[in-house]
Amino acid sequence: MSSNSLTIQDNRTGKSYDVPISDGAIRAPDLRQIQVDGQDFGLMSYDPAFTNTASTRSAITYIDGDKGVLEYRGYPIEQLAEKSTYLEVAYLILYGELPRRDQLAEWTREITHHTFVHENIKELMQAFRYDAHPMGMFISTVAALSTFYPEANRVDDAANRLYQIKRLIAKVPTIAAFSFRHNRGLPYVYPNNDLSFAGNFLSMMYKMSEPVYHVNPILERALDVLFIMHADHEQNCSTNAMRAIGSSRVDPYSALAGAAAALYGPLHGGANEAVLRMLAQIGDVRRVPEFIQRVKAGDGRLMGFGHRVYKNYDPRARLIKTVADQVFEVTGRNPLLDIALELERIALQDEYFVSRKLYPNVDFYSGIIYQVMGIPTDMFPVLFAIPRTVGWLAQWQEMIVDPEQKIARPRQIYSGVKTRAYIPIDRR
Ligand code: CMC
Repeated sequence: MSSNSLTIQDNRTGKSYDVPISDGAIRAPDLRQIQVDGQDFGLMSYDPAFTNTASTRSAITYIDGDKGVLEYRGYPIEQLAEKSTYLEVAYLILYGELPRRDQLAEWTREITHHTFVHENIKELMQAFRYDAHPMGMFISTVAALSTFYPEANRVDDAANRLYQIKRLIAKVPTIAAFSFRHNRGLPYVYPNNDLSFAGNFLSMMYKMSEPVYHVNPILERALDVLFIMHADHEQNCSTNAMRAIGSSRVDPYSALAGAAAALYGPLHGGANEAVLRMLAQIGDVRRVPEFIQRVKAGDGRLMGFGHRVYKNYDPRARLIKTVADQVFEVTGRNPLLDIALELERIALQDEYFVSRKLYPNVDFYSGIIYQVMGIPTDMFPVLFAIPRTVGWLAQWQEMIVDPEQKIARPRQIYSGVKTRAYIPIDRR
C-alpha cells in the first residue's frame, strides 16, 4: 500500500479501499468503485457550492488565503502592481511569461488595432432604453459580438482562438465606455489608438468637445493598477461560469457574456457598491462604533470585509489604499474614506472580527476610488469586467486544451418523488 494514499473503510460492506492521493487531493471518480453491490452506482462526493472540490489544474493564479498571497504566473501582485502595466500583465496571464520589449510592443499594437467595434454594434447599443443598466448592456453586447464573428466557434483552432481573445480584450473597454455614455445620454466616443489602454478608456468615458482628451497621468496609472489587481482570481464564481459554459465548446463571446452575468451579482462584482451604500448610511465617523455594535449583534454585515479564501488581509486591499491616496491628490479626498478608515481601525482590533479572521477585501476601498473618479456605482461591475476579461479568456483557453477536461456536468442526489403512474387531469 502506498503511503500516498487514503484507506477508506466502507462500514456498509466491511470492505476497504486504497485511493491514491495526488497534490493533496483524491480523485472523486476513484470513489465510484465503492459499491454496496453490483447494482449500486458507486459512492459520490456531495459538495454544494464546490467549497472543497478542485475542478481543474491551473497554472495561472495562485492564492494562499491564510497568508494573504496572490500571484499571477508566480509573480506577486505587489510587484506587478508597482512595476507593470495592465497590458503587460494581460500578456503574462495569457502566455505564462512577461513579454520582452519587442513582444510587448507587438501585443500593444495588436490590442490597439482591435479597439473599434462594428458600427452595427454601436446601433445595437443605442437601441437600449435610455436608463439601461450598463452591465446589462455590456453582457448583451458581448454576446452579440458572436454574431459578428461566426468563425469564433472553431474553438479547437489555436490561431483562431487567439484572434478572438485579442478582439475581446481590445473591445471590452469600448463597449464598457459606450454603455456609460448611453446611460448619461452622451454621444459615444470612438477609441483613440494613440492613448494607453487605460488612457483610451478614460477618453472614451469623459471626452466632450475637445479635439484630444487630456488624460491625467495619475488617474491613468491608478486605473491601470486597479485593472492589474482585478485581472484574475483563479476559480471564482464568474471564472467557473466561463469554464463551464465554454466546456460545451460554444464560442468565447457567448461564454464570456455568461461569465460577465455571473459577475453582475451582488455577492461577486457588486460588493463595492454595497460598501458605498453602507458608508453613506453610517454618514459620520462618530457613528462607526454604533454601527460595529449592530454588525456584531447580527444586524447586517460589514460590507467589504471577509472573504471565502482570504483569512488574512486581502493583498489587493492593501495596494488599493495606496492607489486611493494618489487619486485623492488629484480629485480631492472622498469624505467617505474617513468612515472607512475608522471602520477598519476598530474592526481590526475587535475580538468579533479578529477571531473570525475578517479583514478588508478588495471591495472595501475600490468603490471609494471609483466614486471620486466620477464613475457611477452602476458602472462598478463593468469596471471589474474589463480587466477580468483576460483572466476569463486565459482560464477558458487552459480548459479548452486540457486533455482531462470534458463538458462540465455535475452529478446530483435526486430528492424528488420516485416513479409513479400518470394521473389524468380529471382525476387530479
Ligand atoms: N461582517 C460581519 N460578520 C461577517 C462578515 C462580515 N462582512 N463576513 C463573515 N462574517 C461572519 C459570519 O457571520 C460568520 O460568523 P459566525 O461564525 O458567528 O456565524 C463568520 O464570519 C464566517 O462567515 P461565512 O459567511 O461563513 O464566510 P463565507 O466564507 O461564507 O463568506 C463572504 C465570505 C465574502 C461572502 C462574507 O465574508 C461576506 O458576506 N462579506 C461581505 C460582502 C463582501 O465584502 N463581499 C466581497 C467579497 S470579495 C470580492 C469578490 O470575490 O467578488
